[in-house]
Amino acid sequence: MEPVDRREFMKSMTGGAALAAASLPARAASTSESSSSGLVLLTTWEWGQNANERASQVFQSGGSLLDAVEKGINVVEDDPKIMTVGYGGLPNADGVVELDAAIMDGTRHRAGSVCNLHMIKNPISVARQVIEKTSHTTLAGEGAFLFALKLGFQPQQLLTPASLQKWMDWKADPHRQTFWLKSPANHDTIGMVATDGKGHMAAGCSTSGLAFKIPGRVADSSLVGCGVYADDNVGGASATGDGDLMTNYCTSVSIVSVMARGASPQEACEEILRHMVRTDAKNREGQCAVIAMNDRGEMGNASMNAGFRLRYSVWQNGTSELHEGPVLY
Ligand code: GLY
Repeated sequence: MEPVDRREFMKSMTGGAALAAASLPARAASTSESSSSGLVLLTTWEWGQNANERASQVFQSGGSLLDAVEKGINVVEDDPKIMTVGYGGLPNADGVVELDAAIMDGTRHRAGSVCNLHMIKNPISVARQVIEKTSHTTLAGEGAFLFALKLGFQPQQLLTPASLQKWMDWKADPHRQTFWLKSPANHDTIGMVATDGKGHMAAGCSTSGLAFKIPGRVADSSLVGCGVYADDNVGGASATGDGDLMTNYCTSVSIVSVMARGASPQEACEEILRHMVRTDAKNREGQCAVIAMNDRGEMGNASMNAGFRLRYSVWQNGTSELHEGPVLY
């Protein structure tokens, strides 16, 4: 197959239709040498450092790449101080914590996800079991809860005194913003993209979603291809921010599709955000940041604007680092 001319391809991305044409031709050969010599972990936000640390321990003790992603994300889900993920995550408008998560194995090309999961603090682990124990991909609400109980997950109250207080403050505010009209500004998600340095990819993400969301709302984090995607033939991606916005662009699979056509992870991250703005200029103000990595361990990331500037954590060659990403608008 003819290699894709990158400049021509990027030009072709000025039309939104290009993203829909997901035929994924073979990726153009890279001119750069592999920068990967083993496990590489790329994770959103500063809490990604703890997640990466745990993930690297799991992998180095013989766990699979998928085990590493799952157990790494568990660290953030378990932390009550992080009010956007797992235990201690802010609840929906009725004061109920509803969790969403997805995990994808790029080798089997197989994802599992749960949405609107109540009372189980580790939705990424339930999502993992959807892969391992079922032929399904997504379980929701009561069904996801009963599935988790059947597998031995322990139900618990996910509100903490701090998150309950925040919900009560919101509820008591007569001028509170709701999602019926204009969204309050809050976020967010842990997303992790991993490679073993041998061409295998895995990715996962987990969130309590937007604080005080309308009960039943589901967004990118549990929707395969939106909040997370992984494919050994190309790479993986994850998104953080306004999951409603991200869902409308199938953000993660769109990034991987751009990479499949020859773009670097950095080019692909920037391209999808620019595409969002080309199709609707209001998206310039959106809370939106993305990460991506190809199967050679090359990484990219981008934030839409400085109001939601991504900090991301990288684990590579035994070293853990926190970086701030580029802002496009
Ligand atoms: N990105 C998380 C959410 O909007 O639910």
